[in-house]
Amino acid sequence: MENYKLPNHRAEQKRTRQPENILRDRFSMPAEALHLGKGRKYCIHTFGCQANVRDSETMAGILEKMEFAETDNDAEADVVIFNTCAIRKAAEDHVLGQIGEFKSLKKEYPEKIIALCGCMAQEDETVDRIIRTYPQVDLVFGTHNINVLPSFLVRMYKDHRRIVEVESIEGEVIEDLPVSRSSSSKGFVNIMYGCNKFCTYCIVPYTRGVERSRMPEEILKEIHKMMDEGRKEVILLGQNVNAYGKDLGMEDGFAELLESIAETGIPRIRFYTSHPRDYSASVIDVMHRYSNIMRSLHLPVQSGSNEVLKRMGRGYTVEQYKELFDALKRSIPDITFTTDLIVGFPSETDEQFQMTLDLVDYCQFDLAYTFIYSPRQKTPAAAMKDDVSMEVKNERLQELNRRITRYAKLNNEAFMHKTVKVLCEGPSKKNPDVLCGYSEENKLVNFTGSGVNEGDIVPVYIDTVRSFSLDGHVQTD
Ligand code: SAH
Ligand code: SF4
Ligand code: F3S
Repeated sequence: MENYKLPNHRAEQKRTRQPENILRDRFSMPAEALHLGKGRKYCIHTFGCQANVRDSETMAGILEKMEFAETDNDAEADVVIFNTCAIRKAAEDHVLGQIGEFKSLKKEYPEKIIALCGCMAQEDETVDRIIRTYPQVDLVFGTHNINVLPSFLVRMYKDHRRIVEVESIEGEVIEDLPVSRSSSSKGFVNIMYGCNKFCTYCIVPYTRGVERSRMPEEILKEIHKMMDEGRKEVILLGQNVNAYGKDLGMEDGFAELLESIAETGIPRIRFYTSHPRDYSASVIDVMHRYSNIMRSLHLPVQSGSNEVLKRMGRGYTVEQYKELFDALKRSIPDITFTTDLIVGFPSETDEQFQMTLDLVDYCQFDLAYTFIYSPRQKTPAAAMKDDVSMEVKNERLQELNRRITRYAKLNNEAFMHKTVKVLCEGPSKKNPDVLCGYSEENKLVNFTGSGVNEGDIVPVYIDTVRSFSLDGHVQTD
């Protein structure tokens, strides 16, 4: 078996690269790749967070530039890409299960190229396992070399040999990447890549590299292009958007950037994810001043216990979180909050879990993404004793979810007989006779009405309230 170079988490923990040395480059398509996709098809399976969704849009853009056509049928695709997530073991197992099923498809169509990329490809043990036990995977590349996809495919079609190229570098910033967006009403824009926070449970700083911001003018250029294409909403992406611009020497980078984006006049701006530790008063002020910055904030808290937060390395206390929460509510009274919560972190006691429930009672979140702690390779928390039994973890998760659902329903009830502004995303997937979209408050709204097109912002009168969605009809008068 060939020796492949694998990623190295230990090296990633000891980051040495200075921000000014981050390589900034522009994408260019190698001439020999330009027509490689003619008469061929691609299919991308995307797992994980919005960063991966946006990366898949980039890969789709690259492949379409090479004249590949999109298909959602694996059997007829010449290139099948798995863009993977490594955040929890369950996420990885799910991907490995799906790839396992490709063994027979690969036997039937040996010329089909099966590629694995994304965060799982940045993990040494996982890549090693894939190389050894999944011969059907022909190409493995990481989050740092998406832009090299054309050259990988040129090589694959030339010599039909397996390629494993995972860079353990700290990341680059490549501009002018092609994009084929999945929605015509809204679009994701990366404002920065990577993460420097190293929360003790989290794999992301290893899989996504050092925090590095895109230049403001590149971000604005992408947003103006989206507006020219008729898109109404921009969703700014970064693992920790409040740290935007630090590496560019900007003092209050995110507030400045947010203001300049609000000034473009795009109707809706959202951003993910905010870290409570870096939130500045000036960001609150910009949100207060511009009505096109949506009043729904995703502010992950993870736990309601100071002791647990400390061991997670989150860098704030419950009191500081509440202070920030209250300050935001004071300044922007109609703001709504969502959060992320982890149960069963190593040594979490019943009392500490109770504190998480107390915090949920205090904040009454509109929605929360709740997770059972999952140890991740070589992270500091993985060395802590994972001593909460699976039974207890499951019980805590269920209790937490019941509490979250109660507040979700309660918050939604306030919308009964009210009119909300919905950005229409087209027919609902569950029922094609019904349209769907999101309100300014980020509520999923299913509604009826005639003459409404994808991308229209319409007033919808709410007549039915559910825990996680609202139903209504377009208000005509
Ligand atoms: N950058 C974002 C979140 C990225 S991961 C932030 O800091 O908020 C999304 C969520 O997954 C996290 O907020 C956390 O709640 C959860 N998560 C991350 N690592 C996890 C792990 N090892 N086990 C369980 N949940 C985890
Ligand atoms: Fe992970 Fe923490 Fe970075 Fe979020 S801020 S991506 S939880 S290390
Ligand atoms: Fe998963 Fe990577 Fe996102 S681990 S959550 S796809 S940054």
